[in-house]
Amino acid sequence: MIIANWKCNGSTEMYKTWSVDFSNELLHKKDTYLGIAPPSIYFGDIKSYLTCIPFIGVQDVDYLDGPRTGAISVDMLIDMDCNFSIVGHSERRQLFNEDNELIKKKIESLNNKIMTVLCIGETMVESQKGSTKNILEEQLGIIKGLELNESFTVAYEPVWAIGSGLTPEPNDINEIHKYIKDVVQSYSANNHIPGVLYGGSVTDINAESFFKKQYVDGALVGGASLKGASFAKIVNIFNGMKQ
Ligand code: PGA
Repeated sequence: MIIANWKCNGSTEMYKTWSVDFSNELLHKKDTYLGIAPPSIYFGDIKSYLTCIPFIGVQDVDYLDGPRTGAISVDMLIDMDCNFSIVGHSERRQLFNEDNELIKKKIESLNNKIMTVLCIGETMVESQKGSTKNILEEQLGIIKGLELNESFTVAYEPVWAIGSGLTPEPNDINEIHKYIKDVVQSYSANNHIPGVLYGGSVTDINAESFFKKQYVDGALVGGASLKGASFAKIVNIFNGMKQ
């Protein structure tokens, strides 16, 4: 599974160029779950224009309909045939003060309706203190007792790796992904073992080193997904190695 997270980037011109560059670079089509989360305002246009991308999602959602100015609800995602929603991205946590309590409500409202990609990850300070696993366990605590379906997915995104050009060692990522799978399995009511994506400075240069690892089920790609050609290169690498 490879998902592009465009964050607050893009324009009509950008996605049109992106589409040409992506299609020119893509080697072969496979059944890989391939998705893009554009800014929501472009969702409909991109869904009809980027037919080369099978799954179009959103970067965030709210957990209720009604008087909540600026929000987009799960019912609207269903109405628009949205394929997935990212939740709990570290930028939402840091810039918009989202806490585990709020993210839990979002997960509960999405659960079994829209595929959910829950982002978790430790900061540099937490990593240096050796508390990565404790932090991840705390962030995953919100799924305790939930019946999760097949499409519940986790993205491990160390905060210090996002947009920084830094990444953990592939072996460390692999170990953390195994840990995440074990924790979700023990916390969920139905012992669900989730797919775990790695996110944080993934490029077409380093992707192979991550995809080689057993417990890395794909990637959530930010910066390198903004150019169609570099995103296609990452997809090509994944298609040549996984599934
Ligand atoms: P990055 O972002 O690939 O630019 O590091 C990843 C993300 O934040 O999802």
